[in-house]
Amino acid sequence: MKIVTVIGARPQFIKASIVSFAMQNHGIDEVIIHTGQHYDPQMSDIFFKQMEIPKPKYILDVNGVGHGAMTGRMLEQIEEILLQEKPDYVLVYGDTNSTLAGVLAAKKLHMKVVHVEAGLRSFNMAMPEEINRILTDRISDYLFCPTQTAVNNLINEGYNNLDCKVELVGDVMYDCFLHFSNKQQKPSDINIANKYVLATIHRAENTDSPNNLTNIVTFLNKLAEGYQVILPLHPRTKKIIEQSHHEIKFTIIDPVGYLEMIWLLNNCEFVITDSGGLQKEAYFAKKKCITLRSETEWVELVESRWNILKNPVNHIYFETVDILMPESYNLLYGDGNSANLIFQRLLFNEK
Ligand code: UD1
Ligand code: UDP
Repeated sequence: MKIVTVIGARPQFIKASIVSFAMQNHGIDEVIIHTGQHYDPQMSDIFFKQMEIPKPKYILDVNGVGHGAMTGRMLEQIEEILLQEKPDYVLVYGDTNSTLAGVLAAKKLHMKVVHVEAGLRSFNMAMPEEINRILTDRISDYLFCPTQTAVNNLINEGYNNLDCKVELVGDVMYDCFLHFSNKQQKPSDINIANKYVLATIHRAENTDSPNNLTNIVTFLNKLAEGYQVILPLHPRTKKIIEQSHHEIKFTIIDPVGYLEMIWLLNNCEFVITDSGGLQKEAYFAKKKCITLRSETEWVELVESRWNILKNPVNHIYFETVDILMPESYNLLYGDGNSANLIFQRLLFNEK
């Protein structure tokens, strides 16, 4: 069996590490297309090196342009590659523009599509990711869901009546966390206090809204009076903060590799983020998390009180993380064998 995988953004490299490994275990021949959406060494190369992700056969270098140009240019080039490679399946992850371009190119060529991390919904159509994931799910043949909530979302949208397979397999990010935890690395070159808070900010709704960004910076500055706040900063946010002349009292560092990120997670007091992936990793590391968004796709974290939503549209009031009273830790995201399960199910369905 031959699979072409389309990846392009940081969280997709991370997921691909463990999924590519599972493909090798199942004797599957994988060809990777890297769209180039993320391209800084700390946003791309570092993951390929640290996590031993197979080298992409194709690197497209499409980035830094608007949604239409980005998706369109990727689509055109991916189509050409798929025509040459003639895979049995095309595999995509999540909800980025690289995901949408991959799935569109494949489906219009009548190729079978596998969507890893299917069924997630924020129910906020202003998010580019919500549009990408709805469209991707709709034209995928195999929808591998990380949670029961994701399966339920698809059932509610009538997927039981469509010609596709919906399967609950758990979250490959949990596999990653378990697999790489014993390789965690303390970041070098930064002074880290005994008690620090780990933060990341990159969502368009926060970076592109001066109101939201001001509320977030004010909040992090206030928090920095009591803790060191360490923010490995996404280039999107870095560019905007540099232009905005905000006074910054927290510790901004360059984006770090996954192994450093796991160390920062395991040793922090708590997490503040608008990242989808980091919300779950906070849970894997048994840390409380404040999510700077109005909603989340990972509702089970909020329901079990490990995570609280603070909408940065408003001034962020926050006294202490003690407002979060988590339930005991459960295996909400599978048992760490999700990547293998995907290929067991795929190969079984082939028979
Ligand atoms: C993208 C995804 C988002 C995901 C995030 C993961 C879409 C619509 N959004 O958002 O779902 O959560 O990746 O991090 O696909 N940039 C650099 N260097 C890089 C990468 C990006 O300077 O290595 C700059 C780009 O030039 C651009 C900005 O950051 O100006 C935004 O990048 P883009 O890939 O468009 O979106 P993200 O915000 O990264
Ligand atoms: N991450 C990382 N280095 C960083 C920031 C994040 O390795 O400096 C990892 C993080 O641990 C998680 C993934 O990147 O595994 C999340 O990606 P991101 O927040 O960019 O995207 P999202 O998950 O929101 O789509």
